[in-house]
Amino acid sequence: MSRRPLVAGNWKMCKTRAEAVAWCTDLTAGLADAEGVDLAVCPPATALAEVAAALAGSGVGVWGQNVHQAESGAFTGEISTGMLVEAGASGALLGHSERRALFNEHDDQLAEKVVACLAAGLDPVLCIGELEYARDAGSTEQILDEQLRRGLAQAAPEQVARVTVAYEPVWAIGTGRTATPAMAQEAHAFIRGVLRDFAGDAADGIRILYGGSVKPENAAELTAQPDVDGALVGGASLAAASLLAIAAATRP
Ligand code: 13P
Repeated sequence: MSRRPLVAGNWKMCKTRAEAVAWCTDLTAGLADAEGVDLAVCPPATALAEVAAALAGSGVGVWGQNVHQAESGAFTGEISTGMLVEAGASGALLGHSERRALFNEHDDQLAEKVVACLAAGLDPVLCIGELEYARDAGSTEQILDEQLRRGLAQAAPEQVARVTVAYEPVWAIGTGRTATPAMAQEAHAFIRGVLRDFAGDAADGIRILYGGSVKPENAAELTAQPDVDGALVGGASLAAASLLAIAAATRP
């Protein structure tokens, strides 16, 4: 099954609203460069509605960087699925390694977030990835298996088919180090095998993005791998031109 590539930018805690809107102007001016590739951006929550408005009609997805599983309540600092939808988001990152490491997010919570997103009509983008010591210890597949199975534990098979997975080896995030194309392919093929246990043949339609120091210079060789269906880009997404260059390099 052929999967349409997807390149998403995660700004993390960067950009004011004014900077975000300027980025959208630059992106929409260059969209022809990304033909054949789906695009998405994850702005900080304060800029989400403005980015969604600036990109309305462009086909570019706007995702939250995180979302809470409850509909509302006493959860200071959190954002609900309904709030994301109202702001114009079409999806949400779940379980980014920074959320796991710095804010104690764990797989059981993520399992609830996956189904909460689906119920609200948001595309869940479940992030998984091993720490460096786990790779060195030969435990990468065990970690990916656990994170994926626990994160998808509450989703029905037809719901799993609507999930996007982002494989981000933690040692490659923001470090300038990337997985080699062969390492990425090996991990992605393993992930697809686990997805097949949940979703059967629909696993062939699930997009698995690679993240970790993706840049215009290395995007082509990474995304040329048969199970690498696009990229989740941090630092190199902060300039629209660079995200567009990554999309152009990803085009099949
Ligand atoms: P970098 O591209 O800056 O390594 O970040 C990757 C990432 O965490 C995207 O979510």
